[in-house]
Amino acid sequence: MELLHAQKGLQGSITVPADKSISHRSIMFGALAMGQTTIKNFLRAQDCLSTLNAFKKLGVPISDDGKTITVTGVGFNGLKACDKAIDIGNSGTTIRLMMGILAGQNFTTTLFGDESLNKRPMQRVMAPLCQMGASLTGDNASEFPPIKVMGTNHLQPISYHMPVASAQVKSAIIFAALQARGTSIIVEKEVSRNHTEEMIRQFGGKIISKGKEITVSGPQTFTGQNITIPGDISSAAFFLVAGAIVPNSQLILKNVGMNPTRTGIIDVLNQMGANLKIENYDEKNQAADLMIKSSELTGTIIAGKIIPRLIDELPIIALLATQAQGQTIIKDAQELKVKETNRIDATAEELQKMGADILPTDDGLIINGPTSLKGAHVSSRGDHRIGMMLQIAALIATGKTKLDRPEAIDISYPEFFDDVKKIVVGESNE
Ligand code: S3P
Repeated sequence: MELLHAQKGLQGSITVPADKSISHRSIMFGALAMGQTTIKNFLRAQDCLSTLNAFKKLGVPISDDGKTITVTGVGFNGLKACDKAIDIGNSGTTIRLMMGILAGQNFTTTLFGDESLNKRPMQRVMAPLCQMGASLTGDNASEFPPIKVMGTNHLQPISYHMPVASAQVKSAIIFAALQARGTSIIVEKEVSRNHTEEMIRQFGGKIISKGKEITVSGPQTFTGQNITIPGDISSAAFFLVAGAIVPNSQLILKNVGMNPTRTGIIDVLNQMGANLKIENYDEKNQAADLMIKSSELTGTIIAGKIIPRLIDELPIIALLATQAQGQTIIKDAQELKVKETNRIDATAEELQKMGADILPTDDGLIINGPTSLKGAHVSSRGDHRIGMMLQIAALIATGKTKLDRPEAIDISYPEFFDDVKKIVVGESNE
């Protein structure tokens, strides 16, 4: 498809879609709680619908009246075996967190995904869950899906130092630990998003976090809640960067989730000199409106413990860096290689096609700026975040940009192209 160009700037406001990480977990906690959970502003995008459908297959009553999702919780002991393998689509969060939940169930479940998910590493989750007493095997004894989870209701607690910084791995172990008898201790490599821990507390459970160390005991029971999900800062990130790099722009992004384990993009924008303001901070819902204007940017170094706080934003941050004065170095981000695509290669190669000065490294990217970008024939490679990054790049490129596989964007942001259209002043493909 031909992408939009923004000759005269971007203006207006956008309410970005609901947080993907919280949407997944709201279904999971709703299912595992006793009583009813209502979810407002659930993300009805492919990834979260994969979670919703998977829990329906495990016998959890879930209804959607178009406004509110209602989950009738069955508790940890109420899930039912599903004799057919469950299709998880493209969603790493769904498959990995479900492995932790199913590890504690006295039945066997097979989970598989699409071409991309079936190539993503699962050993990082299988190893600790097997240590706890479950049995998990990948396709042909590999670590790749389809994954057969042979659960047990006799899980042992675990003391585990995580070799990777990953909220998905952490959450899978926590879900298993909640079903084990005794106290588990998990030590993170770096602090990662803490939505699972926060929702345990919200649903009436107990978990202690001290820096990188998490202590959780099982078994626990949860009570259904009424949840309203804030906007996803990872979706807002595309417009934060667009507002900063497109000349003559001013954008307001409404109701953006501001959980501190997710706000690395705001730190980077500030570090690079962006014209950004946080307004109307709502403490109870951990959300705010963000105002961004066209900015003079300078290069920076992004490394170490900030990486998990902006892991999904690195492709769009790389684009930001192409418009900054000087060099930007992104390192310690080797995890990017095992996302929906190898995002180090995809970001570098697709932006190179548009004339960017960007080099892939073993654990990140080196970008020299500013460079003017030119239209090219690019591809999302089936990765939603690469596709959205390329549409934002096209806004400032001279000439036409054509994107292959644009439908990948439905994974997290089905209204993305409509929202871009809404803010382009004097809409133009020229
Ligand atoms: C997520 C954790 C991150 C992130 C993903 C969502 C989550 O993955 O990239 O989009 O909801 O827990 P890792 O845990 O693999 O870093």
